[in-house]
Amino acid sequence: MNKTTAILSLSLAVVGLGGAMPTFAVDSLRGAAIEAMSTPPAKRKVDVVEGGIERTFEQQPPLIPHKIENYRLNLRQNGCMRCHSKAAAEKENTKPPSANHFVDRDGKELAKLSSRRYFCTQCHMVQIKGEPLVENSFQGLK
Ligand code: HEC
Ligand code: HEC
Repeated sequence: MNKTTAILSLSLAVVGLGGAMPTFAVDSLRGAAIEAMSTPPAKRKVDVVEGGIERTFEQQPPLIPHKIENYRLNLRQNGCMRCHSKAAAEKENTKPPSANHFVDRDGKELAKLSSRRYFCTQCHMVQIKGEPLVENSFQGLK
């Protein structure tokens, strides 16, 4: 799809006289009328990288070097902390989140994980062997 078609085009269909509400025909990225479900993206194999994945820029949330599909992460349960909690990390042979995950927005240190850092996958994600979506010349930290 090129850029021109990607731009959401709004066309003014009717402009009523005498104060009637105008109606709009809206073209979505999938065309004017969405008749069929789009195809879900193909399942890709998650990279499992022993020893972790090197960071490519400072302050990067480290990438997740293992599969996560079996770990629940919702309001009731945080499956990640089963292994990544301070208590479990050593036994599970991994690291707990860094100290800033235990600080609230006012900078106060907390005994438990800050709610700001509860949903790990907001910042940390798994990787697949993919092609760059756009050509680019980014070079990571060496
Ligand atoms: C069954 C235990 C287990 C669970 C559950 C688990 N992890 Fe891990 N995690 C590990 C281990 C072990 C490593 C270290 C892997 C290695 O270095 O080879 C690791 C590594 C990581 C790292 C890389 C840390 C670094 O400094 O490179 C991140 C980030 C991470 N996990 C996030 C998560 C998230 C987010 C979840 C939940 C969706 C999760 N993990 C659930 C065991 C677990
Ligand atoms: C708002 C973004 C954000 C959220 C949410 C978040 N993290 Fe992080 N995390 C980071 C960043 C940024 C770093 C790297 C900088 C640092 O070490 O603080 C990091 C670092 C880490 C590290 C590496 C620690 C080390 O000593 O090298 C681990 C492990 C980790 N996070 C686990 C988690 C887990 C588990 C969760 C969910 C319970 C989580 N993080 C939620 C942003 C986040």
